[in-house]
Amino acid sequence: MRCGAVLTAAGSGTRLGHDLPKALVPLSGTPLVVHAARALAESGVVDVVVVTAPAGHLDDFQALFPGGTVPGGQVPVRVVVGGVTRQASVAAGLAALPAEHALVLVHDAARALAGPGLTRRVVAALAAGHGAVVPGVPVTDTVKRVEPAAGGGEVVVETAERAVLRAVQTPQGFRRELLERAHRAAADRADDEARAVSDDAGLVELLGEQVHLVAGEPRALKVTTPTDLALAELLLSRP
Ligand code: CTP
Ligand code: MG
Repeated sequence: MRCGAVLTAAGSGTRLGHDLPKALVPLSGTPLVVHAARALAESGVVDVVVVTAPAGHLDDFQALFPGGTVPGGQVPVRVVVGGVTRQASVAAGLAALPAEHALVLVHDAARALAGPGLTRRVVAALAAGHGAVVPGVPVTDTVKRVEPAAGGGEVVVETAERAVLRAVQTPQGFRRELLERAHRAAADRADDEARAVSDDAGLVELLGEQVHLVAGEPRALKVTTPTDLALAELLLSRP
């Protein structure tokens, strides 16, 4: 079955606080979105990449993929304008994915260092028959649920059992029909940042469908803050 990837890159990167949209910020001289596209192409299991770009930056993003392919490879790239939320961007990317791709990966440009092996692991689980697949890593922090306190601040309501918690990453993989159904069911929230969902597997869970977990990798961290960018630089310098 052919596999297409939606590479979400239309965010502004508010928390990173850089002049450029986050996906254009260089890591060791190469924009995050190019690192991410290369790893997808190098996996050997992705047939096309649809990149969602911020409105107003379409030309900048297209220029990163000369000849409409991932640099150094043959995998075709389509650049489309993303939406106002990540959820809307994924929906826009899905709509631009040619019909022959029955499997879909959704990947964040912000996870620029996710390796080709991680993509292969997710696609292998799809090929084995799972309809939705997410990579995850054990959580090292203790996680507590809180509520607003009567006198201000917050109060702890509950402590989660760490052993059964996983921090999930991308690329996440789906049977296309399932992901499209999940996005259709949640379409009314897509344009409202307060209600939109940042995790595609979460939308599939809302349908009551099972989501399969595969091992993630520490290098697939999401570059969110300047500290994350510094950490990614360090990881890139050490294979
Ligand atoms: N994204 C997207 N469209 C949006 C918002 C986000 O395609 N409207 C993408 C980002 O480009 C990123 C991924 O979704 O690759 C994960 O989002 P996040 O890390 O939150 O990135 P930003 O939204 O850019 O950052 P911030 O929330 O700090 O503004
Ligand atoms: Mg965001």
